[in-house]
Amino acid sequence: MSCPVHAGYDPLAPAFLTDPYPQLAEIRAETPVFHHSELNMWVVTRHADIERIMKDHRTFCGANTQEPVFPLDEEARALLADGFGTSPTMSNGPEPKHSRVRSHCLKVFSARRLEVLAPTVRARADELITRMLRRPRFDAVNELTYPLPASVVFALIGFPAEDTVMLKELAAERMVFTWGRATPEQQTDVAKFMVRYWKYCVDFVHRRLAEPRDDFTSDLIRVHLDDPEALTVDEITNVIHAISFAGHETTTNVATSALLRLLGDREQWEALCADPSLVPQAVEEALRYDPSLFTWRRQTTRAVDIGGVEVPAGAKLLLQIGSANHDPQAFDDPEVFDIRREAARHHLTFGRGIHYCFGAPLARMEIGVMLELLAERAPSLRLAGKDVDHPRNICFRGPEKLWLEWDA
Ligand code: HEM
Repeated sequence: MSCPVHAGYDPLAPAFLTDPYPQLAEIRAETPVFHHSELNMWVVTRHADIERIMKDHRTFCGANTQEPVFPLDEEARALLADGFGTSPTMSNGPEPKHSRVRSHCLKVFSARRLEVLAPTVRARADELITRMLRRPRFDAVNELTYPLPASVVFALIGFPAEDTVMLKELAAERMVFTWGRATPEQQTDVAKFMVRYWKYCVDFVHRRLAEPRDDFTSDLIRVHLDDPEALTVDEITNVIHAISFAGHETTTNVATSALLRLLGDREQWEALCADPSLVPQAVEEALRYDPSLFTWRRQTTRAVDIGGVEVPAGAKLLLQIGSANHDPQAFDDPEVFDIRREAARHHLTFGRGIHYCFGAPLARMEIGVMLELLAERAPSLRLAGKDVDHPRNICFRGPEKLWLEWDA
């Protein structure tokens, strides 16, 4: 059988970035698995195929999840080779290393730590919302959905609050670097930032090693001090580095998209304001409707059939999570945003299997707290503009700004 292709698919095209769902529906129906020569990846679009891939880590490993999608320039590569010391540990970690490290993280990131964090999340959200609502018009990303998850994940890790602005600057443009088409200048700048960010993580973990405190990093350090082979300092540094990225813009983007969808449909917003018990279902539907990791990657370890298409060993796969979550085979009326949907939780937004997102309970809590407090305190909230820009990359998706207004 010849290799299926889909000529019109361009994940960086402005129209696709703005609204990818109509084209994904066409692709799912016509060529659900196809090869894209420019990306050199096999694009997979159906819920059933993606779920099966995520659950079978022996045939589909995560080795390529953090690779830049487009090859880097020599200068950026040299900078990274010199000072960016990460090694594959979590989403891209080989087995059994990944499962060993993950099991320690899960023990430490227990219900207890989440319980300890809950009042901090609520207090911080309350403080940000109070400040935001002093004005009748504001950008909710800048005021709330970005700063809350960033400060929560940094508090969890133990990064000093006064470093947040600097860390935010160092993390800027990272998305376009790994998942977009960065210019040579951007690549050089970001590579320098990545080296500084990595060094910051190394220094921070060593400070906690010398003097553990009450935070997630120190809990991992205690595991290391009990048994240095169970978890090394380098592995801890990789985990901290990974979480400091994985744990905020992902949440920012779903929370922002949730507001966009809810406020775009007055009936749903008013229902939420009238009945806060709908918040958990609204969060789930927001996660389904607009997954913030719109795609994720895997690599085949052997030749395998995916949805009737023969894919060779070593093939790189682009899993269209956004498409899976809108697949009519998995969800009734998938294009309808419905906070009362019973089956929303079947979404693949947090993955499946051995790499299932371990920050999912925290993300759900943060998004829920933001929606609950806004519904309670600002039921007159509404969209203050129609145009929404999305970042130019193939993975992270969510409005870059969201202008809102209310009857202050
Ligand atoms: C709405 C917010 C979030 C979304 C959409 C999201 C999504 C994902 C996805 C798709 C994966 C990969 C799953 C796979 O490969 O099968 C993942 C893994 C991961 N996530 Fe999240 N995530 C979110 C929030 C968080 C938070 C708050 C944290 C940390 C506190 C976090 C930490 C991680 C880590 C460490 C992994 C790697 C797990 C492993 O490989 O074992 N994420 N996440």
